[in-house]
Amino acid sequence: MKLTRFLHRFALAALLALTVAPALAETPAEHDARMVWWRDARFGLFIHWGVYSVPAGEWNGKTNYAEWFLEETHMPVSQYEKFAQQFNPVKFDAKAWVAMAKNAGMKYIVITSKHHDGFGMFRSDLTDWCIKSTPFPRDPLKELAAACHDAGIKLCFYYSIMDWHHPDWGTRRAWNDKAPKTPPDMDRYVAYMKGQLKELLTRYGPIGILWFDGEWESPWTHDRGVDLYNYVRSLQPQIIINNRVGKARAGMNGMDKGNERIGDYGTPEQEIPPTGFGPGVDWESCMTMNNHWGYNKNDQHWKSSTTLIRNLIDCASKGGNYLLNIGPTSEGLFPAPSVERLAEIGAWMKVNHEAIYDTTASPFPKLAWGRATQKPGRIYLEVFDWPADGRLVVPLASPVEKAYLLDGKTPLTVETTAEGKIVHVPAASPTSAAGVVVLEINGKPQAL
Ligand code: GLC
Repeated sequence: MKLTRFLHRFALAALLALTVAPALAETPAEHDARMVWWRDARFGLFIHWGVYSVPAGEWNGKTNYAEWFLEETHMPVSQYEKFAQQFNPVKFDAKAWVAMAKNAGMKYIVITSKHHDGFGMFRSDLTDWCIKSTPFPRDPLKELAAACHDAGIKLCFYYSIMDWHHPDWGTRRAWNDKAPKTPPDMDRYVAYMKGQLKELLTRYGPIGILWFDGEWESPWTHDRGVDLYNYVRSLQPQIIINNRVGKARAGMNGMDKGNERIGDYGTPEQEIPPTGFGPGVDWESCMTMNNHWGYNKNDQHWKSSTTLIRNLIDCASKGGNYLLNIGPTSEGLFPAPSVERLAEIGAWMKVNHEAIYDTTASPFPKLAWGRATQKPGRIYLEVFDWPADGRLVVPLASPVEKAYLLDGKTPLTVETTAEGKIVHVPAASPTSAAGVVVLEINGKPQAL
């Protein structure tokens, strides 16, 4: 009896080993090595750019559109295609974009190489539905790749699995008036998609992340996800792939549920999880600066720079990354309010970046006045509500060797009380978004 059970288990394990393709087989140490740059980076720029920037969110009196334009208006594909003729980003300057991201303290850029409308922002040999059918004679992704390379920024590609334009995407839309009468063929679609990914992964140098999206419709399956994950890793073994390559994502909270998990990290969307998930569970919150991903000329609901800085800190304090979005115009410009915000975040990062890069989650479950991050020997206290009485109460048992403000390295005195450590801080915060206090300690921090 026991033996049959053993044999049964053995057969099952052997079967599993066979179904897990080689690229997925990686030791934990190899996985950690692949994730190092991403875990240290903490901050990236998302860019949603495509022909939907031509209508700029407005159509027939409605003003709430952006990159979902084709789906939400049900515009016939043949009519939507005409936007390409008006897409001429003559003011696009890859070096300027990369410089703005870098000055903001961002370490990577994720750009839409193809969004759900299927339009490629690169010169693909496999379709005309790409930058080739615009008046713009260049390849924006080539120029970004060169600029990122020169600036030491990781270039990453967003790629939508769902494709409202390609006739073979399994849930073909009724308004796809260009599609033939024959039914869609997902195998043919996957071959096309792999062909485009091969272009993207062999012509633009090393790519940091493949950021998949649009995995939720039923033609996409777990098995196809595993196959795609392995395919991408076979072209660039060190690349990082988000969890939207598979089917396990639990809605907007972005983390996986169930057993069929693939991908290297979770993708909360427009939200920051209430707590982190412990070491080894990687995640990145992506978020817009206003209320749209793609360019919408009427949307002036901008988050303040203070909110954006605090969101970045919040993510870092929970062990995650922050991927902040910009929707450039069809002329190739970042909207002015986005430019301002990047500069303001950059001013904070210039002084305080040490509290963000290369840190891990807070040692404290909760802090009434702000957040904390840490690296060996150091705790960073990011203070949102600066104490009016000059006493910052830190629920810490570990002895503090040294305390100072990160801005100007002003030394601070620390008192030990029953409440924990009281750090005596100046009357006003060095920056209203978040003043940072550094505590140097020996060994692991012991929270009270
Ligand atoms: C979504 C949307 C989309 C956007 C993305 C960013 O799922 O479909 O338009 O690109 O999330 O996370």
